[in-house]
Amino acid sequence: MQKTFIALYLLPAVFVKVNAFESFTEARKVLEEIAKLGKTTYSFFQETCGDSWIDFNSTGLQVDLEQKFFGQHIASKVLLKAITDFANNKTPKKPLVLSLHGGTGTGKSFVSQLIASNIYKKGMSSSFVHQFVATVHFPHKSKIDIYKTQLQQWVKGNVSSCDRSMFIFDEMNKMPPGLIDGIKPFLDYYDNLDGVSYRRAIFIFLSEAGGERIKQVAFEFWKNGKDREEIQLSDLEENVSLEVFNNQYSGFLHSSLIDEYLIDFYIPFLPLEYRHVRMCALAEMANQNVELDEDIADEAAKAMIYSPQDERVFSSMGCKTIRSKLVQVDKKTSGRTF
Ligand SMILES: Nc1ncnc2c1ncn2[C@@H]1O[C@H](COP(=O)(O)OP(=O)(O)OP(=O)(O)O)[C@@H](O)[C@H]1O
Ligand SMILES: [Mg+2]
Repeated sequence: MQKTFIALYLLPAVFVKVNAFESFTEARKVLEEIAKLGKTTYSFFQETCGDSWIDFNSTGLQVDLEQKFFGQHIASKVLLKAITDFANNKTPKKPLVLSLHGGTGTGKSFVSQLIASNIYKKGMSSSFVHQFVATVHFPHKSKIDIYKTQLQQWVKGNVSSCDRSMFIFDEMNKMPPGLIDGIKPFLDYYDNLDGVSYRRAIFIFLSEAGGERIKQVAFEFWKNGKDREEIQLSDLEENVSLEVFNNQYSGFLHSSLIDEYLIDFYIPFLPLEYRHVRMCALAEMANQNVELDEDIADEAAKAMIYSPQDERVFSSMGCKTIRSKLVQVDKKTSGRTF
């Protein structure tokens, strides 16, 4: 179907021009035109590493963060600024390296999807977005040397075919210690390595390491009656990077990525409160195209577990299990299915 379209599209151009073949220059022009048409048509259907498929939409990301991403004022602000600056810089000196930290269900994977969908037309399905999940791709500590070589080859190969590739490393805290240092040269300030430049790539690390520390700080603010929005990046950044560096279960234990300052931003994800979980419940209803029901959202959010035990301020699973709570609550009430 695709091939037929291309042929039909190009034929008239060829015939019109064939009669006009008066000189070699003209013939060359025609061939160039055909090649251009072919290229345009190809990149219309097939994802390519060009601007028609990779084009950062800063406003799109801003709107998504404002409307879909709840309770994460620090992450929203830092991510938007970091990615916008990077995308606007035509000659970055190194790739963008972001490390996202926070408890389960606080939106680390979710925001990575929002980022991908505002850079790549195909979002997470783009062939230039690569996801590594520690427990799936690197399950055995003893195989670290093999993994290291594979990882290097994988990253190098993908950046060779598209310099604007994005790599997401999930479950960093379950990654064998030392493995991530294998990609250190790619994250550094090199013009190119073996002819490959990594400067336009984006690396995102997701980790639960540092989550407890972030929770403690957020709880202190809450206890002192301070507004959550008053928490600043500076209240958390140093704590998080230190904890990550010294924690043997962070994936970054004594990592040279940290002590050589190759991570551009440590981004803390705050624990979510009841009001945020409720918003997640309403968002889930909207996603499922069911009529929004505030009472059901309330009930589902209440059915989540909160900590600390006495104060019950933060949802232990963030928004992670809200869908199953909706199903559970809804069955009890109207019998509608999500
Ligand atoms: N801050 C948030 N704003 C909006 N929705 C959220 C947020 N956090 C979580 N969610 C919802 O909950 C789901 C689960 O969250 P997500 O997978 O992003 O958690 P995570 O931080 O990656 O957790 P884990 O460390 O367990 O991987 C998301 O798909 C999204 O629907
Ligand atoms: Mg996740």
